[in-house]
Amino acid sequence: MDESTEPPSAAASDVPVIRFDDLHKSFGKQHVLAGLNLDVERGKTLAIMGASGSGKSVTLRHIIGLMKPDSGRVLVEGVEVAKMTREQLSEMRKGMGYVFQDGALINWLSIGENVALPLRENTNLSDKEIRERAQHKLELVHVPDAWNKMPSEISGGMRKRIGIARALITDPDIILYDEPNAGLDPEIARSINATIRHLADTLEVTSIVVEHRIECIRVVADEVLFLHEGKSLIQTATADFFASQHPRLLRFFGQDSLPPSANPHS
Ligand SMILES: Nc1ncnc2c1ncn2[C@@H]1O[C@H](COP(=O)(O)OP(=O)(O)OP(=O)(O)O)[C@@H](O)[C@H]1O
Ligand SMILES: [Mg+2]
Repeated sequence: MDESTEPPSAAASDVPVIRFDDLHKSFGKQHVLAGLNLDVERGKTLAIMGASGSGKSVTLRHIIGLMKPDSGRVLVEGVEVAKMTREQLSEMRKGMGYVFQDGALINWLSIGENVALPLRENTNLSDKEIRERAQHKLELVHVPDAWNKMPSEISGGMRKRIGIARALITDPDIILYDEPNAGLDPEIARSINATIRHLADTLEVTSIVVEHRIECIRVVADEVLFLHEGKSLIQTATADFFASQHPRLLRFFGQDSLPPSANPHS
């Protein structure tokens, strides 16, 4: 059989769950992504770091098909997102959780109903079952009493946690987190990070985590990619990333001025 006519295989285990292949995306004259390549293997967590405005959120939006590339491809389970039919896209999104940077809650729905919404829209579960599942996710992110509150009544950190609860509600195989620690105090952040790690370790969830906080990345990430000038400057194991002496990374982390004793030229 001619291989080129075979339908794309969704479950081949050697295919990366998420792959970017030479992706370009511009807004007007601004070339935000300029040849981005990345791979995330099944059950792994990739952290994406990079300066503010370097294109991290734009990268995530391509994965759920909210943005289309100018050129290059995004493949999820080996299937090109931009070529998916409406049904394929909707099916893919059901298996994906997305934690938006700002929480993206619906203002006229209570917190509980915000979390329950994906189940109400996509399943035939009973009201009782949906409420139980949503309440369980609220407990997981440490806001057990939030059900009846409205989005306008809660703090930024709480919005973030509700966004995480909603992303987890359908028990997705792929989760994209856009700054899961933003606005959280250190204790809650640690607990959210432990939850992210737990999902990867126990349920083989494949994730991308966009985050600046090093404590988060050390706990959750198997690999780190640094986005620079629209490309991957480096994608490597987390320990190797933090040991890297690349001048751009040293500058990013504020370690570019070595103490005199370590500087051979002084
Ligand atoms: N829909 C859009 N239209 C025009 N420009 C956009 C759009 N979305 C993003 N951009 C631009 O693309 C660049 C990258 O944006 P992006 O939101 O991906 O940055 P980021 O790396 O997530 O930054 P931050 O760390 O601040 O969240 C920015 O300059 C932004 O203004
Ligand atoms: Mg962003």
